[in-house]
Amino acid sequence: MLQKPRGTRDFLPDEMERRRLIERRMREAARRWGYREVCTPDFENLELFTMKSGEGIIQEMYVFEDKGGRQLTLRPEVTAAVLRMYVNEGKVLPKPIRWCYFADCFRYERPQKGRYRQFWQFGVELIGADTPSADAEVIMLADDTLRSTGVTFDLHVGHLAPMKHLLSGLDPGDQRAIMAYLDKHDPQGLEAALVEKNLTHLAEPLAALGECRTVSEVFEVAGDVPERARIEETFSLLDSQNIDYRPDFGIARGLDYYTGMVFEGFAKNLGAENQILGGGTYRLAHLFGGDDVASCGFAIGFDRVMVSIGDFTLAHEPVVGVVCTPEGRARALEVARAFREAGIRAEADLMGRGMGAQLAHAAKTADFAAVLGKREVEAGTVTLKDLHSGEQQERSLEDAIAEVARHGAC
Ligand code: HAM
Repeated sequence: MLQKPRGTRDFLPDEMERRRLIERRMREAARRWGYREVCTPDFENLELFTMKSGEGIIQEMYVFEDKGGRQLTLRPEVTAAVLRMYVNEGKVLPKPIRWCYFADCFRYERPQKGRYRQFWQFGVELIGADTPSADAEVIMLADDTLRSTGVTFDLHVGHLAPMKHLLSGLDPGDQRAIMAYLDKHDPQGLEAALVEKNLTHLAEPLAALGECRTVSEVFEVAGDVPERARIEETFSLLDSQNIDYRPDFGIARGLDYYTGMVFEGFAKNLGAENQILGGGTYRLAHLFGGDDVASCGFAIGFDRVMVSIGDFTLAHEPVVGVVCTPEGRARALEVARAFREAGIRAEADLMGRGMGAQLAHAAKTADFAAVLGKREVEAGTVTLKDLHSGEQQERSLEDAIAEVARHGAC
């Protein structure tokens, strides 16, 4: 038996319906804030992601050469693609630009619960606004979007400036390496790297930075930074709206393009793979041939949100099984069409079964049977059988439709 590739999943209809419901809620949250959906290709030129995505992601990409010898990759994330699209198509649009997306991404990671090789992200990118209000809007939207899904989470908000200030004496390669350990929450790796690079004096302030719970403590640990006023203003905007977040200046982010404010969300009930959201401010457009425009965004790990929410029962829409004799087939198609036109799910026999077998099948798969025997076909009626109670009554087609519709979602 052939199996699906490692790290991918199949979704049966119940699961797909649950996923679509949660997806709709996230789109709806973004819509209310004015973010409109965009779509980019599943694969891009490799260099789009090698320019600034960071070593971690580059190692994990699904890279291939097409028949024309082009180096391509399945997208490991969507931000770089959206900014490429902005440079190609969006430069003339009035700013700020508010875009959102729901897209699958591909990373060659070691699969486990909550970590897949194909996974979906719901994200937003706010392009062309470089203010504390812009940063605060994106954080508030992240909070709103996560809340709309029903997941329970902690939101951590920080800024890279204090950490970069602590690491300012290092060359960019060492700085990136240290930040990668911080991002992975790998204290052993961090310690070994600090020893190797003769930087053990940084261990204490780096640890202290992650412990700070107020903005003023952060500047005591890391020293003052020019971004201080902006950080304070962003945080006070969040406070003014009673956003439930925790200042966390230990956030390093795995992607290299972040420039300032950074934030992450963690599901309260998940284990190792509990990070359900990541985002921040960044600059990418200038690398792709555009203007050096400030941007800010986030992406939610949709699959992790679904794991966190767990299975739930959906409102059940009534299903009608249309049961007929061989002679009644044309009438059965008419009846099924009338139910469908009224928005009701109707299924007709495709197996050439007798009426008894059709009814037995309907009892397993439907809530009502619309029975069309010889008499009903001649009279233009339908015998509607409630397959749960067993009650049945011959009615006009309109009455039968009204009766099923009355049950709505049951
Ligand atoms: P990221 O933190 O790499 O950020 O990914 C965002 C989220 O995608 C993660 O928080 C996690 O929930 C989910 N995720 C990542 N890898 C996997 C995986 N292998 N399986 C399941 N879920 C996964 C970004 O991608 C940035 N583009 C976010 C952003 C948008 N920054 C600014 N704008």
